[in-house]
Amino acid sequence: MTGTPTPQVEHDKPLSLVLVGGSGDLAQKKILPALFSLFSQRLLPPQIRFYGFARTPMTDDEFRRKAMEHLTCRYVPGENCAQWMDRFLARCHYQAGQYDSADSFLDLFRRMKDFEKTADVNRLFYLAIPPSVFLDVARALADAGLVTCGPGRGWSRVVMEKPFGRDRASSDEMARDLAHVFSERQIYRIDHYLGKELVQNLLVLRFANIVFEPLWSREFIRGVDICWKEDIGIGSRGGYYDGIGVIRDVMQNHLLQILSLLAMERPAAVDARAVRDEKVKVLRAMPPLRQADLVLGQYTGVERNGRRQPGYLEEPGVAPDSVTPTCAAAVLRVENDRWRGVPFFMRAGKGLDGRLAEIRVRFRPVPANPFAQLMPVLPENDLIIRVQPDEAINLRIINKAPGLALRLEETALDLRYHAAFKDIIPDAYECLLLDAIRGDKSLFIRADELAAAWDIFTPVLHETEGRRVRPEPYPFGSAGPAATRELAAREGIECE
Ligand SMILES: NC(=O)c1ccc[n+]([C@@H]2O[C@H](COP(=O)([O-])OP(=O)(O)OC[C@H]3O[C@@H](n4cnc5c(N)ncnc54)[C@H](OP(=O)(O)O)[C@@H]3O)[C@@H](O)[C@H]2O)c1
Repeated sequence: MTGTPTPQVEHDKPLSLVLVGGSGDLAQKKILPALFSLFSQRLLPPQIRFYGFARTPMTDDEFRRKAMEHLTCRYVPGENCAQWMDRFLARCHYQAGQYDSADSFLDLFRRMKDFEKTADVNRLFYLAIPPSVFLDVARALADAGLVTCGPGRGWSRVVMEKPFGRDRASSDEMARDLAHVFSERQIYRIDHYLGKELVQNLLVLRFANIVFEPLWSREFIRGVDICWKEDIGIGSRGGYYDGIGVIRDVMQNHLLQILSLLAMERPAAVDARAVRDEKVKVLRAMPPLRQADLVLGQYTGVERNGRRQPGYLEEPGVAPDSVTPTCAAAVLRVENDRWRGVPFFMRAGKGLDGRLAEIRVRFRPVPANPFAQLMPVLPENDLIIRVQPDEAINLRIINKAPGLALRLEETALDLRYHAAFKDIIPDAYECLLLDAIRGDKSLFIRADELAAAWDIFTPVLHETEGRRVRPEPYPFGSAGPAATRELAAREGIECE
């Protein structure tokens, strides 16, 4: 996603795409289906092979059968789809091995050589594995000679997904260790929220329309809410989630990325460097979050339709005395001329009363109300950007109700994507994988950006975890901890 000419997929060069952790959920449910979507739209190089690698023993056929379960015909409906699936699956291979073993990756390499007839071949390694094994894999790949670059050689790139460490120090350490194998140019840190259509649209909305940018400051905006909620619990992912919690899982990455796109200055160009430079400036203008500006919650069990919905502490893999928050609300600040005094109210949680990711920009009231006799208090304008589900942009305005009398009512300019656009909205991973193959880093996290993001949350994480601050319990399926509404009220925000 760039405003300057987009780097092109090199259609004339072979590409080996290695899915490390190919047996897992991310690989099977997200990455392979996204690759199939790109493949079936002829967006990938014609000479391409997909290699799954993981410890689980599996034959090529078993890997293909497993992959097929999640492929969809979104882009090639009808009879054509089966043919495209066959073509795609014929290019899928699987190698079982150990993540820390160069020999295992040499076994993979031997199989890749059947396809890679030349040294001028591009390689993309997607690490769909827990971060605890990133470094083992990086070292083993390097020892097996799979990471190449230089004249006459194709590129080697590595794509990895959060969590990148637990705090600033562990993130820096991971970055230093990985730098022994991959240069920053080769590393693509995914935040899949950046691949979401409505998040990508933030820059276009702000900088391609005259109507918003002049109002986009403390002068006209009184607050910004960024809300993410899920109506499900932790389920079988307790082992991963416990000790991580909602701040590391959602706020420090997905929601902070949204905030930086909303608050950044106009970039000199819409390219990877200029956009990320501006995002880093916003993050560096944000002081570390204070505990006084944070509410933590943890869902408790409830009876629902005669069935018991377990509380967080009853979920498998969760320590019985865990203080890991499943819900949080925070007031963040951007201390620059544009935003000083404007609260950025960030809320995220699991086991809440709905499923939603939404941004709400709250404008200030009109300074003088000429309609006071008809409507003593004019509702404020809000711009609502719904990231998921049902992507939409909604501007709440005051309008004259049709009729002979002058009557004011609140209504909305409502752009619903599914009604307005015939085009299929791509999955975030489709967009990001294509960008990684093209070498477009605009939507990937740069090392300095990651460090700045950790600086905002690390002190409060250390403080609350060091003192084992107990999150406020809230019933599963409710609106969350009562203290969230108190925090919102303190900032003059009505919590919806
Ligand atoms: N799923 C998502 O949507 C999502 C979202 C955000 C981030 N992520 C990140 O992506 C990673 C992969 O996600 P996932 O959902 O696919 O996870 P997963 O299914 O738990 O793990 C992927 C594969 O890694 C191997 N593995 C699991 N635990 C391991 C361990 N302790 N040591 C070594 N290998 C292990 C397993 O393969 P073998 O046993 O066959 O080797 C497994 O099939 C996650 O760890 C997380 O960091 C995922």
